[in-house]
Amino acid sequence: MPRLPPHPDLAWSDEGAPIAAAFTDVYFSKAGGLAESEAVFLAGTGLPHAWAGRDHFYVGELGFGSGVNILALWRAWKASRASHAILHVSTIEAFPLAQVDAARALAAFPEVADLAGQLLARWPVRAAGPQRLWFPEDGFALTIHTGAAEAMLAGMTGRFDAWFLDGFSPARNPDMWSQALFARIAALSAPGARAATFTVAGAVRRGLESAGFAVEKKPGFGAKRERLEACLPAQRAGAPSLAAAYPYAACAPKRVAVLGAGIAGAACAQALARRGIEAVVLDAAPQLGAAPAAIQPG
Ligand SMILES: C[S@@+](CC[C@H](N)C(=O)[O-])C[C@H]1O[C@@H](n2cnc3c(N)ncnc32)[C@H](O)[C@@H]1O
Repeated sequence: MPRLPPHPDLAWSDEGAPIAAAFTDVYFSKAGGLAESEAVFLAGTGLPHAWAGRDHFYVGELGFGSGVNILALWRAWKASRASHAILHVSTIEAFPLAQVDAARALAAFPEVADLAGQLLARWPVRAAGPQRLWFPEDGFALTIHTGAAEAMLAGMTGRFDAWFLDGFSPARNPDMWSQALFARIAALSAPGARAATFTVAGAVRRGLESAGFAVEKKPGFGAKRERLEACLPAQRAGAPSLAAAYPYAACAPKRVAVLGAGIAGAACAQALARRGIEAVVLDAAPQLGAAPAAIQPG
């Protein structure tokens, strides 16, 4: 087994969109990748309306690719979020693009050049496993899981509110659309979670339905006649869990005592708050960052 995740073998369309040679399929529509992301994935999962009033909202994506969906999502989040709210996004990619190729693809979207620049500046390194990018000014936590979708989903826990299903076409990329994968997505979903995709292939509709989603065809984007929206029933018990966005957390406590208000303690408290976990910081000193008198220098 290769030590590093494989880069995709790319060709480029006349419009500047990457094409994966192994799947003979494009990463995004030549009719406008960003507008397609908004029409298929954001509108398809009821965003931005669905996150209104939520302190934490969880999105899962299959097929990070060049990150166009993520930029559309980030832009919508910036425009509508409450100042304290946090958007947690977990995205999965088996064939990570090199940063130079992502930059070439994203150059087609000057309207999100600022966000693209921020994403590219922290583009994930070529390594297996999760990498988290945290953008505190926007309350935006992006975790990129490098590996095959089924294997990555198997290692996650928790409940997502929305799913962007963006593999290549099911006929050419069946691993991204298996029944086992749909069942796992349902198991990782919050009550009323929504999923969206560009394809209305019969196997995808049936797969989502047998995993418990109600599916509906909607008018498609660009050359595609139809797209799919899917929704789980709202009556499943339980609130969204933080573990969804933090798959390597062994547990998801509500309240944590942090002993010591030095740099490490303060950083822990901040990281816990970001995950919606209450931190109680205990220190003998009267203020943050003040070491106890016994170990003060001089
Ligand atoms: C249509 S492209 C996604 C485009 C992407 N959302 C974007 O904004 O550029 C499909 C993506 O799924 C990835 N992919 C294909 N098979 C996969 C698998 N089994 N597991 C995880 N990712 C896979 C491809 O490498 C590609 O990046």
